[in-house]
Amino acid sequence: MGQVRDVAQLGAPVIREVAQPVAAIDDSATQSLIDDMLATVAAEGGMGIAAPQVYASLRIIVICSRPNERYPHAPHMTPTVLINPQVVNQSQTMDIDWEGCLTIPGLRGQVPRHRWVEVQYIDRDGHYRQATYDHFVARVFQHEVDHLDGIVYLDRMSSTKDVVMEKEWRRMMAEGKDGHCAS
Ligand code: NI
Repeated sequence: MGQVRDVAQLGAPVIREVAQPVAAIDDSATQSLIDDMLATVAAEGGMGIAAPQVYASLRIIVICSRPNERYPHAPHMTPTVLINPQVVNQSQTMDIDWEGCLTIPGLRGQVPRHRWVEVQYIDRDGHYRQATYDHFVARVFQHEVDHLDGIVYLDRMSSTKDVVMEKEWRRMMAEGKDGHCAS
């Protein structure tokens, strides 16, 4: 079983680095890192996590959608480990919606993302895989892959006027307001 690792916060240099491809997937250090990422994202209640968020500058992400306040219809997903993930095709259409990040606690922002993405990756057993994700899961995937390139969601926003504190975001959601977006 994995150990919960410390989550890097914005300002840690690793968050702004371009992570390295994983070469030795069956290496025990790589497998331990994956176990620890799974333990950490579960403990933190995240929808996903990228290796740089636990101070490992490697191209590994976990995505683990489940229904939440904002996305009551988000699919329940077994946490999926994606190594060296790449986008092979993506929608022209962009959707704008709220995101948060374990590395930037307390904030939410409105972020444009491709509505769907076709991706390829290697699983933790070393098998090449392809998948198509849409809507919420596509959003989580794009958010996590950005972490591998040193990008956080704030960088993707058209205006910092769409950044809110989580407390006020919760108030907005409770009042049934979506907030407004410049675009
Ligand atoms: Ni994040």
